[in-house]
Amino acid sequence: MTLHTLNELIDEGVRGRYVLVRSDLNVPLDGSLVTDDGRIRASLPVIAALAEAGARVLVSAHLGRPQGAPEEKYSLAPAVTRMAELAPALTISLAPDTTGPGAQAAAAALADGSVLVLENVRFDARETSKDDAERQQFAAELAALTGEHGAYVDDAFGAVHRKHASVYDIARILPSYQGDLVRAELTVLEKLTTDTERPYVVVLGGSKVSDKLAVIENLIGKADTILVGGGMLFTFLAAQGYAVGSSLLEADQIDTVKDYLARASAAGTEFVLPTDVVVAERFAPDAAHELVSAEAIEGSSFGSAGIGLDIGPATAAAFADRITAARTVFWNGPMGVFEFEAFSAGTRAVAQALAEASAAGALTVVGGGDSAAAVRSLGFAEDSFGHISTGGGASLEFLEGKELPGLVALDR
Ligand code: 3PG
Repeated sequence: MTLHTLNELIDEGVRGRYVLVRSDLNVPLDGSLVTDDGRIRASLPVIAALAEAGARVLVSAHLGRPQGAPEEKYSLAPAVTRMAELAPALTISLAPDTTGPGAQAAAAALADGSVLVLENVRFDARETSKDDAERQQFAAELAALTGEHGAYVDDAFGAVHRKHASVYDIARILPSYQGDLVRAELTVLEKLTTDTERPYVVVLGGSKVSDKLAVIENLIGKADTILVGGGMLFTFLAAQGYAVGSSLLEADQIDTVKDYLARASAAGTEFVLPTDVVVAERFAPDAAHELVSAEAIEGSSFGSAGIGLDIGPATAAAFADRITAARTVFWNGPMGVFEFEAFSAGTRAVAQALAEASAAGALTVVGGGDSAAAVRSLGFAEDSFGHISTGGGASLEFLEGKELPGLVALDR
């Protein structure tokens, strides 16, 4: 695979040229406020480097999953406001549309060294279309904004697993380069797949087991230990024959999970499942809650109405023991509803254990928007971890061993 780098592009000379950068600005919002700006901060170095080199920088990005038409709540405006706050030396503006007359006029007026963020690429249905011709047509419109000597830089690691116009098709039209963020992410993730230092412990959480099936399948026989928390743990408990009350359950995945548990022990991968769970009366920050053992979830005073919202302290301690003894740790997915203080202890304990493992010299990688937001919102310093990935689905698909369309397209 031959991937061209940002430095190569800058060395070629970019002053006065339009460079279209695909960034991942898909950040969580509370109204018009960005609640976790990690992806914005991770995206700024490449944008700034190009602007400093005199390029006219066009940034394309998505936010959320709008249905192919403009929707106020998915506007990139809050992200652009935050970008401007974080990089006051840059001249940054937001185009009123993505490739329409507003973007065309703003791009034409862009000065050397300035930055224009195009409105959410998913405001156009062609961005995510399954029809190659439709996507290519949209990519051509994006490329046209760069004029005659345009170039494309993919720096959106979080979106490299998407075969979308602004990620995949555009790289087939413009001379394309790999951004430093994508490069840095891949360098770390490659250490998880080649010459991994052992013990290699993987911590998986988050709500849906179905999102994690492929990665679990791939890790059986590769990871020494897989720790299971978050909403998905209840499907594992159900696979062991336990009743889980009103907790999240993907009943259609129980057989698959049973199969994984059986195969893992044969392949030398240990699954560690929770032995205790915090069960709540309802899904709310102030809900009454009790600690129960994993096999007696319906034994709480809430009976079958009880909802498991966090791993318990005995589980957290067992997970922490495995994590602090590891040489390599990958973590994707919170252990519980960390946004609610009462159900954040499990996620906090895992984050703390990763920080301790890191301090002891282990490689620790936090992957996924939610886990990254969790460690920051729980007050952990980013440098407590070896690497906090900006990619959720992208880092999982990398570990699944899948081909990532965004990277395939950069090969030239
Ligand atoms: C993410 O949040 O993981 C990336 O920004 C990709 O978003 P998507 O899952 O909506 O494609």
